[in-house]
Amino acid sequence: KAAGASQLAGLKTVTGTLALSVFTAVLGSFQFGYNIGVINAPQKIIEADYNATWVHRYGEPIPTATLTTLWSLSVAIFSIGGMISSFCVGVISEWLGRRKAMLINNLFAFIGGGLMGMAKISRSFEMMILGRFVIGAYCGLASGLVPMYVGEIAPTSLRGALGTLHQLAIVTGILIAQVLGLESLLGSEELWPVLVGVTVLPTVLQMALLPFCPESPRFLYIIRCQELTGRQEPIIIAILLQLSQQLSGVNAIFYYSTSIFQKAGVQSPVYATIGAGVVNCAFTVVSLFLVERTGRRTLHMLGLSGMCGCAIVMTIALALLAIMGGMAISIHVPLDSVPWMSYISMLAIFGFVAFFEVGPGPIPWFFVAELFSQGPRPAAMAVAGFSNWTANFIIGFGFQYLAELCGPYVFLIFAVLLLFFLIFTFFRVPETRGKTFDQISTSFSQHPPAMMDLDMELGKRSTELDYLGGEGSLD
Ligand code: GLC
Repeated sequence: KAAGASQLAGLKTVTGTLALSVFTAVLGSFQFGYNIGVINAPQKIIEADYNATWVHRYGEPIPTATLTTLWSLSVAIFSIGGMISSFCVGVISEWLGRRKAMLINNLFAFIGGGLMGMAKISRSFEMMILGRFVIGAYCGLASGLVPMYVGEIAPTSLRGALGTLHQLAIVTGILIAQVLGLESLLGSEELWPVLVGVTVLPTVLQMALLPFCPESPRFLYIIRCQELTGRQEPIIIAILLQLSQQLSGVNAIFYYSTSIFQKAGVQSPVYATIGAGVVNCAFTVVSLFLVERTGRRTLHMLGLSGMCGCAIVMTIALALLAIMGGMAISIHVPLDSVPWMSYISMLAIFGFVAFFEVGPGPIPWFFVAELFSQGPRPAAMAVAGFSNWTANFIIGFGFQYLAELCGPYVFLIFAVLLLFFLIFTFFRVPETRGKTFDQISTSFSQHPPAMMDLDMELGKRSTELDYLGGEGSLD
């Protein structure tokens, strides 16, 4: 009830400028999701072009192993870009400020989108791979800048809900990419360059809107008063939360679900992929409403346990399928005799995704910003983002190999990891709901804070100035 009341009170503080600023910022998150989801459905079509290029260059079809490597690299180099750039979030956001950093980041989106869009016409898979790297760099920066900016401009009572919008924009991006990736839309032989290049559109919109958004008042405050220091190092928690998000295996689904569904005997794998995208969006909305009521810790644990359960169901279904089919799951088997098993594996994947979005999807992104006080926050975002993207790369690159190696048991690996992260969360992760940034950081500190209570101070000033009501400055 109390949480509901504070949410209502919070709603009143959503000024037009706050809404505009959050919307503009999460356009970056949208592109992050779009580029996660965009290579899933058209895999075979783009691979065919890689093959055509190979034939054109060397006069023979591309060897299967080379194609697997080139495709895994195209998928996963995105995360290398993300790894590198997310690590620079701290330096860049301190140097330029949050808003200007988001503005300049758009250069990466133009270059990345351009390279990918031109790859087919230039008969170059290298350009596609490079483009994925550059757009990954854009997304890595966005993955740090957006939650930080949103967390810093949000009123305390809405920080979780607004923080979840980052993830909501990511999942919307994934879904839109999946839908546009249908062969009847942009996922066709001729139009896939448009599908991958169209990511520049939200970039243009973001560039047009950012000048109307205020800089984070907390950032301005640091610039004005260089007195802020960090005390605590809950960094291990931040890193492990990010790892729990990625090593849950969720991106095995978002990069490869079409072929996973196909192997599981699902009739229309691309539509099942879109189904996963819909579930993904729907449950992010569920989390948005729960996060200020139920709390971060509980939702994260609920999500991890649910995913673990679904991973086990998935394993059982795939194993039974393999046994019934009498063949390894890595080979496509016509499974007309056991269609219900393929439904179960589809439901298990939907459940897996749904539980992911209840907690492990949205929470780690904004939780890191909450765990740290003003001084160390950008550096912490960088380290946490780097861990996230590194693990994202490992899954994106390694999953196909793991799946070949472990066959139907591949999801068991995720089940074990999920269990580990569940135990860790239970013992080590604190609840941050309803606390100010400074109360949270004080709870990690052995000593009472030497510095002034920044939240109180900012709260007082922001009320006086109504900074998000249009004045945009703490002068
Ligand atoms: C989170 C993850 C991202 C994943 C997405 C799925 O944002 O960071 O890697 O693709 O959730 O919804």
